Amino acid sequence: MGNPILYRVANEVADPADPEIARLANDMKDTLLHVGGSGIAAPQVFESLRLVVYRISSRLISDTAEDANPWVVLVNPVLAPTGDTMASGWERCLSIPGLHGKVPRHQALRMSYQNLDGETVTLDAEGALATLLQHECDHLDGILYPMRMTDLAKLEFNAEPGHLAQDIVDGQKVWPVLQGLVDAWPGRGQYFDD
Ligand code: NI
Repeated sequence: MGNPILYRVANEVADPADPEIARLANDMKDTLLHVGGSGIAAPQVFESLRLVVYRISSRLISDTAEDANPWVVLVNPVLAPTGDTMASGWERCLSIPGLHGKVPRHQALRMSYQNLDGETVTLDAEGALATLLQHECDHLDGILYPMRMTDLAKLEFNAEPGHLAQDIVDGQKVWPVLQGLVDAWPGRGQYFDD
């Protein structure tokens, strides 16, 4: 956060089938595997291009899901919300290490993008996937998640997840990767008996 490339509107990919784009997508996948994230956009690796790589990993959706979901490469993705429903959930970002924040997002959307063969694909998404896609595609327009937040009190250190713990006490479902922050928190005794 703070590097100017993260605040730029990224360039369209002229030729999705260019082998250099596939090479870059593969590098981004390696980066994600290394840091354990779910999605990454090209500006985060200092390439101002409209390119995203993601995978719905087990850490994101459940404690037991197989890590069998395929990697998806989005070239020149375009999102449009379907319906007016917004929901706030906790997010993290590789470009903002050590923090998490609660961000309002559209609950459902339709996305079209090109794959690495240059074919146009349309996808409907909701819930966690819709949130992930909005987060990653925001990177292509120079937007980081704190810029979407409406309550900055809900931006906090991973090492001090007090508001996140309160949400869990209140019965909100959070992704396992976020639950893990609370499980590891020495201050959790203020919120939980066990
Ligand atoms: Ni991010």
